[in-house]
Amino acid sequence: MSDGKKRLRSQDWWLDYHEPDMTALYLERYLNFGLTREELQSGRPIIGIAQTGSDLAPCNRHHIDLAHRVRDGIRDAGGIPFEFPCHPVQETGKRPTAMLDRNLQYLALVEVLYGYPLDGVVLTTGCDKTVGALVMAAATVDLPAIVLSGGPMLNGYHKGGLAGSGTIVWHARQLLAKEEIDLAEFMDMVCASAPSVGHCNTMGTASSMNAMAEALGMSLPGCSAIPAPYRERPQMAYLTGKRIVDMVREDLKPSKILTRKAFENAISVAAAAGASTNCPPHVIGIARHMGVELDIKDWEMGRDIPLLVNMQPAGEYLGEEFHRAGGVPAVIKELIKAGRFHTDALTCTGKTMGENHEAIPFSADRNVIRPYEDPLKPEAGFVIMSGNIFDSAVMKTSVITPEFKAKYLEHSDHPGLFEGRAVVFEGPEDYHNRIDSDEIDIDEDCFLFIRNVGPVGYPGAPEVVNMRPPAKLIEKGIKALPTIGDGRQSGTSESPSILNASPESAVGGNLAIIQTGDKVRLDMEKGRLDVLIDAEEIERRKEAWRRNPPKMPPSQTPWQEIYRRDVGQLATGACLEPAVLHLKVIETH
Ligand code: FES
Ligand code: MG
Repeated sequence: MSDGKKRLRSQDWWLDYHEPDMTALYLERYLNFGLTREELQSGRPIIGIAQTGSDLAPCNRHHIDLAHRVRDGIRDAGGIPFEFPCHPVQETGKRPTAMLDRNLQYLALVEVLYGYPLDGVVLTTGCDKTVGALVMAAATVDLPAIVLSGGPMLNGYHKGGLAGSGTIVWHARQLLAKEEIDLAEFMDMVCASAPSVGHCNTMGTASSMNAMAEALGMSLPGCSAIPAPYRERPQMAYLTGKRIVDMVREDLKPSKILTRKAFENAISVAAAAGASTNCPPHVIGIARHMGVELDIKDWEMGRDIPLLVNMQPAGEYLGEEFHRAGGVPAVIKELIKAGRFHTDALTCTGKTMGENHEAIPFSADRNVIRPYEDPLKPEAGFVIMSGNIFDSAVMKTSVITPEFKAKYLEHSDHPGLFEGRAVVFEGPEDYHNRIDSDEIDIDEDCFLFIRNVGPVGYPGAPEVVNMRPPAKLIEKGIKALPTIGDGRQSGTSESPSILNASPESAVGGNLAIIQTGDKVRLDMEKGRLDVLIDAEEIERRKEAWRRNPPKMPPSQTPWQEIYRRDVGQLATGACLEPAVLHLKVIETH
């Protein structure tokens, strides 16, 4: 361009003098709804709005309205908005699991960002998987991108008490198992937790992952926690639309923001927030698509960070209190004060984390966001376990109750050591069929195992590891047994499960060879879970497994087949491996 500014990539479509006939074809159809040639050929940034909301994706549906304010912001800053739909991903509606579609939403968005005349993009996030999918795509294409969270629903209430998304489901299931409520009340309890537009109002995977986007520097400060119906939400949409236009002018791309330091910051915020166990696979997925080394073991960095956010499932409150108390910026303030945050990490504002948070006050409600030196719980980050039946698995320590700790982790004879008996389920169907049957012998010294539920085995790795104990134990007051599996669990669950075990049994991980009745040892000190059988016996059982591997359920759709062929393990982000092998292929500039 004549003024010496960098020519925008969209101008390759609108102003290509080498192939004027193609330019005419590119232009003409975009004029057919009222855009003018002047607008498209003016060199103004063309900004995509990656729309994830739809009737099929109710957690994000509010973005259909927010997009109007995003457009206003883009126009006011001199850009031109182009809104387009993303493949819908709804956590609660998609069978067999929404995780299967994270990579599909990712793939589809990469094609759009690469193949259309876009200079930058607003990523509309909300429901769990949409954050990982959209940021992964922006990382792959390395096009200026900014996250706009949709925000959580308002607080839910049931009979005067708080009803938090997901978390109330696990409570209600226990009450139903004990026959203290009937199915009608069960429905009422669960539905009470969804009182407005927005995503889950607990610190489940959605609030956690939107907090991750903010901690990574990909959204404006304060964006993630604003409840969806609050006036600040469309105001944030407007500011986000304005900002992306300048990001394009500054050529502020994801590769400048998503650095190793940004990922370490995300790990610190995850620990302090009591975030979902789905954070490691999604955040590692983002890192891998950006070409940043991030190992599952790196999450140990957050292990000694205390729990600061008093929000369900680890604490008491929901999204409205968290927002009022200061949201993610107030958490970052505490981490900066404690020296546990990289203040020099660059963010989408064009400034560093330190600069962004300089003028931001500490929490307005110290009961909801606690001071670092007076936390809810000390050392609340994830523990990355290893052992002889998996290389790695994640344990969420922020949800460990005093009773669970006393029984399993602070056993009087050997603190930190617990030995018990394995009860093994072959998948969620097997678990549901047998958990309350008289034939199965489960007592409080049992470990519940579930296998065949990893990314390949039950495509997408469903959220099934938080298995409730049998009703007869719940009646005796035992609300949680140690549970272990190669699947995931909901971020809203209070279960201190050992999950995301990798490699999964379906690809030959040793979880495949554990048998009901085996003795198991949990050693918290060493971060190990081992089956107490010798190496020869393990080898003998593995050989038998290799000769006669159990049949996996058949794929029901073509995508499931493709996914199973190319997906990696949860420890490495459950990415499509070909997508991360060819990182350098995509050049948009
Ligand atoms: Fe969509 Fe929780 S189900 S955010
Ligand atoms: Mg979930």
